[in-house]
Amino acid sequence: MISVHNLKKTFVTGSVETHALRSVSLDIADGEYVIITGRSGAGKSTLLYHMGLLDEPTSGTITIDGIRTDTMSEKERTRVRLVTFGYVFQDYALLPELSALENVIVPLLMEGRSFTESRALAEDALARVGLADKTCNLPSQLSGGQQQRVSIARAIGNNPSVLFADEPTANLDSQTADTVMSVFRTLHEAGQTIIMVTHELSRVPEADRIITLSDGNIDTDTQVRTHTSRR
Ligand SMILES: Nc1ncnc2c1ncn2[C@@H]1O[C@H](COP(=O)(O)OP(=O)(O)O)[C@@H](O)[C@H]1O
Ligand SMILES: [Mg+2]
Repeated sequence: MISVHNLKKTFVTGSVETHALRSVSLDIADGEYVIITGRSGAGKSTLLYHMGLLDEPTSGTITIDGIRTDTMSEKERTRVRLVTFGYVFQDYALLPELSALENVIVPLLMEGRSFTESRALAEDALARVGLADKTCNLPSQLSGGQQQRVSIARAIGNNPSVLFADEPTANLDSQTADTVMSVFRTLHEAGQTIIMVTHELSRVPEADRIITLSDGNIDTDTQVRTHTSRR
């Protein structure tokens, strides 16, 4: 469970202040599939990064499984990022010199797992996204959709509690985007908590909830399906 209370984020660039988040409060339950949408510049990525502990608020609190993140040490925060959360970005963010398998293995090793266990988990994650036959390919030897599926495998390798995704299909053609969305659908059906920024609502009819941001505030927060936790 993630609770956000009165979250504010103001970016200061020179003499310019940007109020990216003005006062955002929300609770996300385990197993929920939440879509965050809204116009460019509305604060979607900023909100996602704060919930994912990738940025620090100007004020307000974020609580993860009952623990306020501002009381965590940097070491604990790193641990949450590595163990509890998984991230998928618009541009895949794969390491170009590493194979698909190696890209997925790296964060598992960073968690302190043995190489043998990391490789087994990475192979399993790649199989779950339909890439069992591409483990040795470099990112440059994969299509955009395949690269995004490698990045999803990297994010789910250790079975994180929460999967964050920031416009994961923005760089993909329509058919490939649907393939990537079907991977998220399968994860959701297995009980994965997913928080995804996207503009393409029609691709995610299975989402439980749609939050619309506008100029740093929640504009609408709509339960579109009855959510029941299965995890
Ligand atoms: N690191 C930053 N420094 C200064 N301004 C930023 C930074 N990140 C985001 N912003 C600004 O904050 C606002 C919200 O940005 P963002 O959350 O990226 O919007 P969205 O993802 O909805 O398009 C925008 O006006 C953007 O320019
Ligand atoms: Mg964004």
